[in-house]
Amino acid sequence: MQFDSYTSRVNKKLESYLSVQNSLAEPMRYSVLAGGKRFRPILAYCVASLFNTDLEKIDSSACAVELIHAYSLIHDDLPAMDDDDIRHNQPACHKRFNEAQAILAGDGLQALAFEVLVKDSLLTDHIKIELLSSLTHAAFEMAEGQSIDLSIVEKKVDVSVLENMHRKKTGALLSCAVNLGAIVAQCSENDRSILQAFAQAIGLAYQIQDDVLDVEAPEGILGKNQHSDIDKNKPTYPSVIGLEASKKAYQALYVKASKELELLSVNAHSLQQLIAKLQSRKF
Ligand code: IPE
Ligand code: IPE
Ligand code: MG
Ligand code: MG
Ligand code: MG
Repeated sequence: MQFDSYTSRVNKKLESYLSVQNSLAEPMRYSVLAGGKRFRPILAYCVASLFNTDLEKIDSSACAVELIHAYSLIHDDLPAMDDDDIRHNQPACHKRFNEAQAILAGDGLQALAFEVLVKDSLLTDHIKIELLSSLTHAAFEMAEGQSIDLSIVEKKVDVSVLENMHRKKTGALLSCAVNLGAIVAQCSENDRSILQAFAQAIGLAYQIQDDVLDVEAPEGILGKNQHSDIDKNKPTYPSVIGLEASKKAYQALYVKASKELELLSVNAHSLQQLIAKLQSRKF
């Protein structure tokens, strides 16, 4: 299947970007190469492919967005944040190494993400600046979303607060993955804005579904601590609007995302398939 080929492609590229020997290499490699669904790189590859873009030109973007994601997960698991011990079915980075190394590995991955884009000799300077400006903006929004997440622990909040937080902590990077694909493909402004609407819908859906999976998915399948949110008394979609309403909310967003794609100037069959895959994801 096409998605599997994107996954192995990005895994190979990540391996090569992380092959430089340095004193942070071990925790960085440990966290990035352990797995993950690679959903953000798949999105970037799918979007660029819609417009027949050479995949080599999208490799750096696919890796950059995954490196930021990997850094966000390392920091997310730290005791000062979600205090979770398991990630990708193995000890979290701070458990396998220590907290200082985990913080620094995250810092290193963030810097590497930008370096990967800056050093890509297949891209023009103009495109690089556009890519960097999208990625820096998303990285900032992710951090802001994480800050909101931690500031509302044990508080009673309205669903609009959750929506804003989810759009930032998770939606921003997913939108960025789509945007990077669109920038490299240099598609029309109209297609770009349709893709942004699609991305915003799946970005929010993805985190609502993550909240639902935290309630429902068994730990062995999830690869991370189950009931992490409930144990910390975190407001989530299921805790604020209920489990069934949360499921309906994310399914409706996937339907909205699918409808947006019909407006594109090109056939978006691969993205439609990706939505179907997401709708039935179990982890
Ligand atoms: C987990 O993201 C955290 C969220 C932002 C929802 P993913 O579920 O995409 O993480 P991996 O990389 O596939 O493990
Ligand atoms: C994390 O949200 C969002 C990030 C920016 C990492 P969660 O805290 O719900 O992610 P998991 O459930 O630990 O993967
Ligand atoms: Mg978190
Ligand atoms: Mg977490
Ligand atoms: Mg979660």
